[in-house]
Amino acid sequence: MDEFLKEIWAGLTANPKYLPSKYFYDKTGDELFVQIMDCPEYYLTRCELEIFTKQGGDMAIAIQDRLKTFDVVELGAGDCTKSKHLLKALLAQDTDFTYYPIDISANVISNLEEQLPQELQGLKVQGLNGEYFAMLESLGTLSARNKVVLFLGSNIGNIPIDDTTGFLKQLGSYLAPGDLLLTGFDLKKDPAVILAAYNDKGGITRRFNLNLLQRINDTFGADLNLAQFEHLPVYDEQTGACKSYLVSNKDQQSHIGNAGSVTFGAGERILMEISQKYTAAQTDAFAIATGFAPTAYFTDSKGWFLDALWTVV
Ligand code: AVI
Repeated sequence: MDEFLKEIWAGLTANPKYLPSKYFYDKTGDELFVQIMDCPEYYLTRCELEIFTKQGGDMAIAIQDRLKTFDVVELGAGDCTKSKHLLKALLAQDTDFTYYPIDISANVISNLEEQLPQELQGLKVQGLNGEYFAMLESLGTLSARNKVVLFLGSNIGNIPIDDTTGFLKQLGSYLAPGDLLLTGFDLKKDPAVILAAYNDKGGITRRFNLNLLQRINDTFGADLNLAQFEHLPVYDEQTGACKSYLVSNKDQQSHIGNAGSVTFGAGERILMEISQKYTAAQTDAFAIATGFAPTAYFTDSKGWFLDALWTVV
């Protein structure tokens, strides 16, 4: 059975049901995510962009104060709208570095390699197309310099909190003492603000979630009935977990291609995604537990988002 089918079958036959959110990002999912980032309710991207536009220079200084020579690596670079401000500030200070964007999309990498050097004169770019850890492994043979790793956009929040320590330890295993990690964390705030970000009035986030059911239908000839599921985001202030569910609005059965059939009870939920929210103190604790030292905080003017700079000890 192919990996995608294996994982969705495991999720749809589990109790409670879930689907892995990494599968949101097909062509339509990518387009919907771009629209989400433009939604008035989705504050995360605007807050982090404010940090990079206003404090890119301070970030560059914080890096150069600690490392004389280094290369910059970005996990899940996308169109690097935010990191561009930091790269620009590093170039302005005559730093000799190569920018290694890592992305699962070959298209993203070829666009960056083509367009970035035109936009940022003198920037050396070498894209790495593949999974984060496989690409970090191959980077070991490409560069012997210290690394500054960027992991932005609150992507860390889509890792269940119990797996975050393991993820950070694994990331650290590819790094050397003195290397730096800049991670974007979405901070805990008014629950109404968080819930609205995952329940926009225009219904884009709803379509983003339902699109995974459509992708399963298209890929495996399944017959999930999108009209029979409601989008439900739930935020738990205590744990900081914002969970997106699709809720079956009736008793129903769906056929997942050749894999078999799945039944859904009325009101039964499929957990689609976790978007974890943190306190700054929690991010420090993660750093210390996983072999990093908290080094600097960069936050937006509302104090809603944190880019935390850590040093590998
Ligand atoms: C990519 N990731 C950080 C987004 C988030 O906020 O968890 C994905 C997303 N899901 C719904 N809206 C945005």
